[in-house]
Amino acid sequence: MVKILVVYDSETGNTEKMALAVVEGAKQISEVEVIAKKASQTGLEDMLEADGIIMGSPTYYGQMSAKLKAIFDESVKIHGKLEGKVGGAFTSSGGTATGAETTLLSILEAMLVHGMIVQGRASEKHYGAAAVGSPREKELDFCKELGERVANLVKRLKTQR
Ligand SMILES: Cc1cc2nc3c(=O)[nH]c(=O)nc-3n(C[C@H](O)[C@H](O)[C@H](O)COP(=O)(O)O)c2cc1C
Repeated sequence: MVKILVVYDSETGNTEKMALAVVEGAKQISEVEVIAKKASQTGLEDMLEADGIIMGSPTYYGQMSAKLKAIFDESVKIHGKLEGKVGGAFTSSGGTATGAETTLLSILEAMLVHGMIVQGRASEKHYGAAAVGSPREKELDFCKELGERVANLVKRLKTQR
């Protein structure tokens, strides 16, 4: 079994809907256990136990929200121990070209500083899943695919170790 942790912050529910779709996607892959947690309920143990960590945030001033960032700041206590885990990101923004990509990159940057592995996407949604406001069906499909991709990559890497 591999473990995927989906961590999200969501004040008005949009990012939460995306998180549930990411969970659904990851669950499609066999031998994968998926846990979803709100940022405020996520501890360092949760991150240490996971093989893949997918994090979602509302776009706040073109960055991840303070609640998600607080997890990364806290994670300095386990710096070095997330190396080799697979990461992924998703966000809900208020508009188009108003900071969604920079928000995704702010999450991925922190993951890279941890030595985590991030897989890009060659066509559309290069940096992760994004939605404007409440996600529509197509955007939820991207979230499901994100969950599947991370779970598949975790499994591939685990079998090569
Ligand atoms: C403090 C704050 C900052 C925000 N900054 C941005 C922004 O820079 N760009 C943007 O498109 N939307 C911005 N928004 C809008 C949210 O990203 C958007 O409403 C999102 O769908 C909220 O997600 P949630 O329902 O998961 O909380 C901001 C909202 C708040 C409350």
